[in-house]
Amino acid sequence: MPSARIVGTGSYAPAKVLTNQDLERLVETSDEWIRTRTGILERRIASEDEATSDIAYHAAVQALAAASLDPADLDMILVATITPDMPFPSTACVLQERLGARRAAAMDISAACSGFVYGLAVADGLLRLGTMRNILLLGAETLSKVTNWKDRNTCVLFGDGAGAIVLRASEGEQGVLSTHLYADGGRGSALILPGGGSRHPLPKVMLDPDLATVKMGNGNEVFKLAVRAMEDACLTALKHNKVDVGDLALVVPHQANMRIIGALAQRLGLSEGQLCVNIERYGNTSAASIPLAFDEAVRAGRVRPGSLVLFCAFGGGFTWGSALIRW
Ligand code: ACO
Repeated sequence: MPSARIVGTGSYAPAKVLTNQDLERLVETSDEWIRTRTGILERRIASEDEATSDIAYHAAVQALAAASLDPADLDMILVATITPDMPFPSTACVLQERLGARRAAAMDISAACSGFVYGLAVADGLLRLGTMRNILLLGAETLSKVTNWKDRNTCVLFGDGAGAIVLRASEGEQGVLSTHLYADGGRGSALILPGGGSRHPLPKVMLDPDLATVKMGNGNEVFKLAVRAMEDACLTALKHNKVDVGDLALVVPHQANMRIIGALAQRLGLSEGQLCVNIERYGNTSAASIPLAFDEAVRAGRVRPGSLVLFCAFGGGFTWGSALIRW
């Protein structure tokens, strides 16, 4: 059975930088509060005419170049996003047309901050079936478009960005070794974008614009659940593959909060050198955070052939999961 090997990575973030000092002018907050509570110093913000597919496109082009792959040879495009260009067609279809990936099927995956890990599981399954050879997987978000810029509880957390990988069906030891996915829909209301779907359709949102932005209940509760769930998902991956923490070259957690990442690292016994962190420059970019951080690590030479890399995520839904790969 072929395995899904990552043969190229790419990433992109919009040019506009929003610093903590900029936020001090928007809401009652401080650089000190944001830095010490989250680890975030700045985030990128898409321009008014920049949609999710636009930033995804740049990440995709980079990943395809790194993989030396012609878009016409793609069999599938998967875009993990909760901020699609529009309800339909999917952002993946928009991207398919723009890339000229004529043969590729295309669809979006909605699993909030866990979208990339969910997408990796879907891509791995498709490639193992043996009917596809090349899949482009992206995590891409423009959360700034659904952020309430008057709500200090949430607006300091999020940012925009995109990360991409090309996966190829390959024989041999490199590739996705395991994926473990979880969800708890019973807690969905803790983190929610209520409007724009069939429950609160757009005409209703126009009467009540508050429905059009992200709401987060008890941030502290989300924090604790995120640490526990990611730890469990990581330990399950390690046990499943009979791998010790010390064998991991890199752990790329979802970048939600530096303190969540720190608590996870402490529980797992990870060294600083094993951790991949870039939250200080991008904030929480939801489904984009893992591939964005991973692309930077790859380009910095932090992974070598044979390196074991563990991805883990937690997000709205709730959803969470892990994926172990051999680079
Ligand atoms: N500036 C200043 N004060 C603020 C701000 C702000 N931007 N935001 C909230 N506060 C205040 C609150 O109003 C509250 O005040 P009160 O005590 O008077 O009511 C107080 O700060 C809350 O403080 P803490 O409880 O100490 O905050 P905590 O240490 O829990 O940090 C945070 C809050 C950053 C939201 C944290 O709980 C967190 O990161 N949780 C995870 C949430 C998350 O990441 N959600 C994103 C999606 S899920 C995911 O990606 C995993």
